[in-house]
Amino acid sequence: MRPINIGLSDEQRQGVIDLLNHDLADSYLLVVKTKKFHWDVVGPQFISLHELWDKQYVAISANIDAIAERIRALGGYPIGTMKGFLEFGTLAEEPGNIPMATGMVSALVKDHEQIVRNLREHIDSCSESYHDEGTADFLTGIIEQHEEMAWMLRSFIEGEALATNGARPDLESKSPVGV
Ligand SMILES: [Fe+2]
Repeated sequence: MRPINIGLSDEQRQGVIDLLNHDLADSYLLVVKTKKFHWDVVGPQFISLHELWDKQYVAISANIDAIAERIRALGGYPIGTMKGFLEFGTLAEEPGNIPMATGMVSALVKDHEQIVRNLREHIDSCSESYHDEGTADFLTGIIEQHEEMAWMLRSFIEGEALATNGARPDLESKSPVGV
């Protein structure tokens, strides 16, 4: 095999590849959980959630491909077995548990937040420990997507009446004037 001469040592590349394989595993677990709720959801918000989870499933699937291909670009091999995804992932599966729609949303918010926390650490490690700004930038794009997906889901379960000035009653004293 030709050596990879991109200014990273073998150890640095391997460190980044290991981080990316963890992110790949969690993305796979999340895509399965998202699809399952897309199928199972019932209730007044069926169409909204069914369609939102379809879009999120597509976005996460695209990330899975991008993460795996970045691993290859760094000279590594992505995990490619369900056993491996379960072993390397940090998200918990809950077989047999079919919650109500709000429970499904809460479970996925928790999972996205877990992934965001992991990615934040991985981004720091990529640039500080492994000197790989390219992967840090790549993961920064992915963390932003998970933050947005978590916000969209959170919005389903955080309904609160606004005061006439548009402020949330519990935050009114802290809101800047005119907001
Ligand atoms: Fe579908």
